[in-house]
Parts: sequence; C-alpha cells; structure tokens
Amino acid sequence: MVDDQPPFSPDGGAEPEGGDHDASQEAAWIDVIRKMDEVYSDLIRYEVDLEQRNAQLEHAQQFIGSVIASMSDILVVCDQKGRIVQVNPALVSLTGFSESELTGQPLTILLSDEDALVFRPGCVVAEHEARLKSRTGGFTDLVAMNGSPRLERERRLPGMVIVGRPVGELRRAYEALHVAHLDLKRAQLQLVQAEKMASIGRLVAGVAHELNNPVSFVYSNVHILSRYRAKLTRYLAAIHDETALPEREELRRSLKIDALMEDFGPLIEGTLEGALRITDIVKNLRRLSFVDPTENTKVNIAEVARNAVQWVKRSGKQLVNLEDNLPQELIVEGIEGPLHQVFVNLIQNAIDAMRTVPHPVVTLSGRKVGLQVVIVVRDNGPGISADNLSKVFEPFFTTKGIGSGTGLGLWVSWSIIRDHGGRIEAANSPDGGAAFTIVLPAG
Ligand SMILES: Nc1ncnc2c1ncn2[C@@H]1O[C@H](COP(=O)(O)OP(=O)(O)OP(=O)(O)O)[C@@H](O)[C@H]1O
Ligand SMILES: [Mg+2]
Repeated sequence: MVDDQPPFSPDGGAEPEGGDHDASQEAAWIDVIRKMDEVYSDLIRYEVDLEQRNAQLEHAQQFIGSVIASMSDILVVCDQKGRIVQVNPALVSLTGFSESELTGQPLTILLSDEDALVFRPGCVVAEHEARLKSRTGGFTDLVAMNGSPRLERERRLPGMVIVGRPVGELRRAYEALHVAHLDLKRAQLQLVQAEKMASIGRLVAGVAHELNNPVSFVYSNVHILSRYRAKLTRYLAAIHDETALPEREELRRSLKIDALMEDFGPLIEGTLEGALRITDIVKNLRRLSFVDPTENTKVNIAEVARNAVQWVKRSGKQLVNLEDNLPQELIVEGIEGPLHQVFVNLIQNAIDAMRTVPHPVVTLSGRKVGLQVVIVVRDNGPGISADNLSKVFEPFFTTKGIGSGTGLGLWVSWSIIRDHGGRIEAANSPDGGAAFTIVLPAG
C-alpha cells in the first residue's frame, strides 16, 4: 500500500520536473528532517519534564505516606459507597486487620451497623465514640472519631475520611487521676480534721483550766457547808432536847455557831458564783461548738478576738501580754465558732513566733471602715521572711519542725474568712513583727 502513495510533496502540490525537481525534493527532505529534529527535541523536553514531575509526585507520595504511617491517630478513607479505600498503620495495629484485608470492604468490617450508619459518606461527624471490631472477633478500646466528607476533584460523589483516637487509655488514666484526687481530698480532709482536733485540744485544755478554779472552790465550800451542817445538827439537837441554858451556851461557843452563821452567806454566795461561772463557761463552749453552720448571726468580732487570746493563754500557759486597742463592739455577720478558730490560730502562731522574745506582746486593733470591719493581729516576734510571705496561706506550709505544725492553721483561717466573704492578708509591721489583717463585711 505504501508504494501506492504519491511521492512526498511538502506543499502538497504535484511533483516538479528535472533539476528543479531534485532541488525542491532536497529542500523538502531538509524541512522534514528539521521538523523531526524539532519533534525529537520536544519529545526529549517532555520526557525530562515528565521525569521531573514524576519525581515530584513520588516525593509527594512518599511524604504523604510517611505522614500517614507516623500518625498515631487512626485513619480510614472510604469511597462514595462506604467502601474502605485506605487505612493507616495505626488502625492496622489497633484492629489487627491487615491493610489488604480491609481495602475494598464496607465500613461494617470495622464498625457495628449502628455506628456505620453514623459515618455515611458525605456526612460531617463530630466526636462519635465507638469500639472498633478487631480481627480476633472482639472489640477495641473506645475510639473517639471524627468524620468529614472527602471530595473528588469534580466535587461529586463524596467519600469519607475518618480520623480517631483511642480514648480508653486516656479514660483509665483520667479515672486513676480522679481516684488519686479523691484520695488526696480525703487525706486533706483528715489533716484538716487533725488540725481541728488540735484546736479542740487547745480549747479543752483552756476549758479544763477555767473550770478547775470554780469547781475547786464550789467543792471546798460544799465541804465546809457539810461540816457546818453537822455542827448545826448537834446544836439544834441540844435545843430540841431542852438542854440547860449554860450548857447550850457553852456548846454554842465551842461549836462557833455565831461565826458559822455569819459565814453561811458568803459561802452560799461563793458557791453560787462558782456555779454561775461554770454555767458561763459551758454556755461559751456551746456557743462555739454547737453553731448551726447554715445560720449566720451578728457576731461581736472584737469580743471573739479578745476571748481567743484568753483561750490560748490559758491552754498553753504561755506568758504573753495583750495590748487591746479594739473598740468594745465590732459587729460582723457570721458564725462565731469558726471565727474564734481563726483568732486562736493567729494568736497561737504569734505566740509561737515570740518564744525567744523577752517581752512578747500581741496587739489587737480594729475599726469599721465604710461597710467593712478591719481587724489587725500584730506581734513583736521576728516577722515573716519576704520569701515566706507569699506562702504562709498555702496548705501544709510550715517552718515548724515535724510534729510541731501541720501548716494548715493559716490555710484553714483563710478558708473560713473567705467563706465569710472577707479576706486575710499577712505583712510585716514597720516596727517589726508580723501583722495579719482581716477584712470582713460589717454586720
Ligand atoms: N505571727 C507569725 N510570725 C512569724 N511567722 C509566722 C506567723 N504566723 C505564721 N507564720 C509562719 O507561717 C507558717 C504557717 O502557719 P500555719 O499556722 O499555717 O501553720 P503552722 O503554725 O506552722 O502549723 P499549724 O498551725 O498547723 O500547727 C508558720 O510555720 C510560720 O512560718
Ligand atoms: Mg499555726
């Protein structure tokens, strides 16, 4: 068939005659060769270009592959029919399926029918938690998954990309953390309880000391009264027996009946006073310990602070002078027991700090400023170092030796004042010693 073709003519015209014919044929061939050259060099250029693009593509593919391979989150890519197109090694290692076992399979190979319905191609799914099926027939830990539509270039027939992270371990860690937190809170509560017990101990020691005095003189008065009763019985018996007057008078003298009768009044008064003091102490105690925490009352905080100094002084038998610059009355709204505990803590700390001071003095001052009541408890101890000033209210912060302080006193005090809607601050006073300022809403 080739031989049947007419000879090549570049201009497509008829074949020229003689020498002209040869020259024009040669020119045509040169033209053909030039064109071929051009085509060839184009081809080479295209090939180089293609190779370059290919290398770029391979590089991009390698990059994406390495990113997908090193993802710790699981990745499942589905087509528009919900069939798995690609998974990453994280999913393979989580489920035990190989990549080839999963590719081409419906999503239900990994998800229950119910969960697979959630991840429909083209849908957006935010934080769906599910267990994946594993190759052994069981289920994996909970996986928190997100799904987003995967659009082809023409933006038709969307597939789906699912990314997820096993949260089982995280949950367990969180639960362990939660248990540890609860344990810590329990331990903290026990320590606070221990701190309360210590302050109750101080209170009981104070009460014991306070009660000792009236109880002992009530006891000795009653003892004397019982002796007087015996004497009076003897004397009355003599009267009833109608003993002769001189003998009766002698008995009256020897039994010191007149002096005894004079003594009766003061003895009964003294006993009564002792009983009243005991009643007062018990009343005080009841006020401190049996308060209804839900019921705020008007509290004279000046009185509470003064009382606290007395309690601490009595319980520890420490020598300390009180400079009382408080007004008679400073009313706040609150619960007396805990507020008393705050002042006991502050004064105990002040006394502890002043152990080596020759003339320890606790100064209480206070006043009403607008709608607030400000009270300052100051001592003339060494004060608080600049480093420690910011830490003294932290729980367990103490500079006292093991067994001497829990470091909870100021923290408990801070919490009590906060619960009363106030604040407490620590500072050093310019003329030495620590100064704790309490600000509470006025009652
Ligand atoms: N008046 C003060 N002068 C100097 N330092 C003080 C004074 N009050 C408190 N501090 C410092 O603050 C620390 C914390 O006091 P906090 O009352 O909280 O605990 P603690 O007294 O050490 O122990 P706890 O009160 O539990 O027995 C003390 O150890 C002490 O270093
Ligand atoms: Mg303390």
